[in-house]
Amino acid sequence: MAFVERVFSGVQPTGNLHLGNYLGAIVNFVKMQQTHNCIYCVVDMHAITQGPEVWGGPAELARNTREVTAAFIASGIDPKKHIVFNQSQIAGHAELTWIFNCIARIGWLNRMTQFKEKAGKDRENASVGLYDYPVLMAADILLYRATHVPVGEDQKQHLELSRDIAQKFNNDFGDSIRGHGFADGLYFPQPEPLITGPATRVMSLRDGTKKMSKSEASDNSRINLTDDADTIAQKIRKAKTDPEPLPSEEKGLETRPEADNLVGIYAALAGVTKQDVLKEFGGGQFSNFKNALVEVCVAKLAPIAAEMKRLVADPGYVDSVLVDGANRARGIADETMRMTKDIVGFIRQR
Ligand code: TYM
Repeated sequence: MAFVERVFSGVQPTGNLHLGNYLGAIVNFVKMQQTHNCIYCVVDMHAITQGPEVWGGPAELARNTREVTAAFIASGIDPKKHIVFNQSQIAGHAELTWIFNCIARIGWLNRMTQFKEKAGKDRENASVGLYDYPVLMAADILLYRATHVPVGEDQKQHLELSRDIAQKFNNDFGDSIRGHGFADGLYFPQPEPLITGPATRVMSLRDGTKKMSKSEASDNSRINLTDDADTIAQKIRKAKTDPEPLPSEEKGLETRPEADNLVGIYAALAGVTKQDVLKEFGGGQFSNFKNALVEVCVAKLAPIAAEMKRLVADPGYVDSVLVDGANRARGIADETMRMTKDIVGFIRQR
């Protein structure tokens, strides 16, 4: 069966949305609206998988949920044409996670590198939710039987797990799926990751070998979507570089992670290739290039920051977007849960 194409993706409301989230994910969310029906979710249930000292407690969670919603809208996501909502409003995410918990194998989860990174050395003390994080992600996507998932490079392994879960569900329940009218035995699609653009992995401004991240202690390591022009300029001027001038060919960036990162950021923001950037700035000093980078960065981000500020000052409007989005998402989610329960053999009221 050909699945109806649908896009789903999510962002955690854990504070400090940064340039990596924007270039690796949100820019592609905006683009996909032209060709697909899209569902964009503020994944507040994922956000609580680490302790409240990480996500900030209830008031902060609500504030961050509104801020991510504002960032979506300010970046150009249209919540009327597409669906924007927060995960915890739809019970199906948790329900489908349970069914998928019984499909996914412990061995599969044990291979997840992000869990290992986040749990650190004290794995015994990590929450069960953090371990189960990728299964909840599979449920997010497959609750809407989404076919395409725009994400940054760091989510590739989680997407592979979603594909494995979809495939094993279809295998385990093949006869029942056929019995419910799906002649080819495929109920869940295998969602395809869309990892595209010159900045699928934006690196820290302090260390070109480390991913730009919300959890990095130094705020100078990242550009936040809410940073003002002066802060952006300061962070870029302070960004780590090496003493060599920029190369003229992309090959020359291979052993220079900081230079590679800044050139990639410029390319993504300006909508050109890295080679185009090197054609313009190759052979020149970093300081010139950094000035130009500040300019494109501020030109792109300042209007988004201003619009975010306007939107978060109107929480009534932001909440109404989330409620309206959830009402529309629920229609699709309920349909999937009804059919999934029938396929599994759970009795329900008719
Ligand atoms: P989160 O909030 O950690 O990240 C949101 C998106 O930003 C991308 N990203 C980056 N891209 C490039 N460079 C970086 N330095 C960088 N840092 C973050 C992430 O890849 C992601 O696309 N687990 C997901 C949230 C989620 C989800 C889902 C995504 C929950 N359910 C279902 C897709 C489908 C996450 O990483 O969120």
